[in-house]
Amino acid sequence: MTRNFINYVFGIYILSLIVLVDSKGVLLIIGGDTGLELGAYNNSDVSTQSIDRLAINGVLFKRAYTSSVSGGSSSRSEILTGIPAHQNGMFGPHSLPSYFRTYDDVVSISKMLSAEGVATGIIGLESLGPESVFGFNYRQTDSNHDDLSISRNISFISSYVKDFLTQHRRENFFLVVSLGDAERCRRPEYGQFCEDFGDEQDPAGSIPGWKPSTYNASSLRLPYYIPDLEDAREDLASLYRSINRLDQGVGLIMSALVNAGLFATTLTIFTSTGGVGFPGAKYNALDSGSRVPLIIASSGYSIGQVSDALVSTLDIAPTIMDYFGLPFPKYSIAGKQVVPTGISLVPLLTDPTKSGHSYVFSAQNFLQVNQEFPIRAIRNDSYTLIWNKWDTFPIAAEIFTSLTYTYLVNQSKSHHHSNWWIELPKYLHRDQYELYDLTSDPYEVYNVATEPRYSDVFQELQALLKSWQLSTFDPWLCSSGFININDKCVSYF
Ligand SMILES: *[C@@H]1O[C@H](CO)[C@@H](O)[C@H](O)[C@H]1NC(C)=O
Ligand SMILES: *[C@@H]1O[C@H](CO)[C@@H](O)[C@H](O)[C@H]1NC(C)=O
Ligand SMILES: *[C@@H]1O[C@H](CO)[C@@H](O)[C@H](O)[C@H]1NC(C)=O
Ligand SMILES: *[C@@H]1O[C@H](CO)[C@@H](O)[C@H](O)[C@H]1NC(C)=O
Ligand SMILES: *[C@@H]1O[C@H](CO)[C@@H](O)[C@H](O)[C@H]1NC(C)=O
Repeated sequence: MTRNFINYVFGIYILSLIVLVDSKGVLLIIGGDTGLELGAYNNSDVSTQSIDRLAINGVLFKRAYTSSVSGGSSSRSEILTGIPAHQNGMFGPHSLPSYFRTYDDVVSISKMLSAEGVATGIIGLESLGPESVFGFNYRQTDSNHDDLSISRNISFISSYVKDFLTQHRRENFFLVVSLGDAERCRRPEYGQFCEDFGDEQDPAGSIPGWKPSTYNASSLRLPYYIPDLEDAREDLASLYRSINRLDQGVGLIMSALVNAGLFATTLTIFTSTGGVGFPGAKYNALDSGSRVPLIIASSGYSIGQVSDALVSTLDIAPTIMDYFGLPFPKYSIAGKQVVPTGISLVPLLTDPTKSGHSYVFSAQNFLQVNQEFPIRAIRNDSYTLIWNKWDTFPIAAEIFTSLTYTYLVNQSKSHHHSNWWIELPKYLHRDQYELYDLTSDPYEVYNVATEPRYSDVFQELQALLKSWQLSTFDPWLCSSGFININDKCVSYF
């Protein structure tokens, strides 16, 4: 009986353990823009067996939030530096023309681990810079490969995972695998989410080991933030095909790890850069845009457990450092000492009933270099408070050209009801402060910021948000019409 067969039958990697090494590793798998649309998070339409299996082998964090909603580069930079994008300098996309990059004096965990003798690697979508800050020893990414192949060809990606593990199996290692699925596609001939790349009809060839799935648009149950329209359903069916490929990619990567005999000694982390690429989700600090999956699995910790703790993607860096028994790097940016606000989640892996943060934070800076829209948000289990610097929310090109957005605009122009959970004019127009009472309004529709009965809560959250901004040296401290003078917001006139 092969090991894969045992895995298949029991779904438990632990049973197939053969411990051959005394080194340890961290495998960090980052998906693109999945939000919570995964089987393990109770979406029963999309099939994600490999991610679900990872959850069976580890701890699933039910309430994890990305601290950045400025897209993939910012999210990855925060995961790898443990500090928010407004502090590390990666305010938005690294790709041209935006070309955001972290400050030169930032110390990433990859750089730090490499200095400690840990073999570091990154495979897949990188879109990070400068190279001197991240300093991976092994790089097979969009920096040296065709970006579509290295980010969506799960067979090609997993061949590099095998290569890395073969080279470094007897060393401590930190391997990041960053997949392009399920981001929106910039190559329209491959579908809305590049879901047709490498399928049976693609003249460019197929992706060995990938079994493309199809979804029946008209029978899908819609997440609350997606309008019930025919075009949106088609869009969602394409998304699910892309998420399913991501999942099959996770399966190939996990097989490589298990077959190398390294599952037991490796901390495997799965997360995603943000909410799905639909209007109403990606780029928003609402739940739909900032909530992400987080699953952490390794032998020696709890398995098949769900944690309700409020946690942030800023906790991933301290968790990895803690797992290697190393302190978080001590350094300053422009003379200001960096003090991480994240916590190690290692204790929660032993005891998933432990609590996490009292509050978590999310931020938006730039969607693109010409689309600045600072948002700062604080939330706990009862409330979300969001601050918007400007009034008109920008629509990113990838969302603007989506089937769903096109239809929403069309309906709005012809004064038809759009079946959306908020109306388009309200979506585009942001109040300076939005406060949502999650107990009665989990979908964050009714802004109660100006209601007198919420004034104490409002002021409390506003003060906590400001102190987080100050402790992370946030350059966007003040509202429009005000200037920051010695951390005080002073009116222009
Ligand atoms: C999925 O739904 C079940 C039943 O409502 C619930 O107990 C569980 O916590 C949910 N899981 C997640 C990850 O939300
Ligand atoms: C995917 O990668 C494999 C090599 O791992 C290659 O044989 C195949 O042609 C690639 N497919 C596409 C569509 O690029
Ligand atoms: C798709 O779902 C609809 C509604 O449930 C159903 O009527 C239809 O037969 C399904 N189509 C296919 C091809 O299964
Ligand atoms: C959330 O924060 C508000 C304001 O600080 C507080 O009143 C409320 O009790 C908190 N809720 C939880 C569940 O901690
Ligand atoms: C927009 O609406 C018009 C008139 O209702 C319709 O003819 C057209 O097909 C619609 N376009 C899209 C993309 O939905």
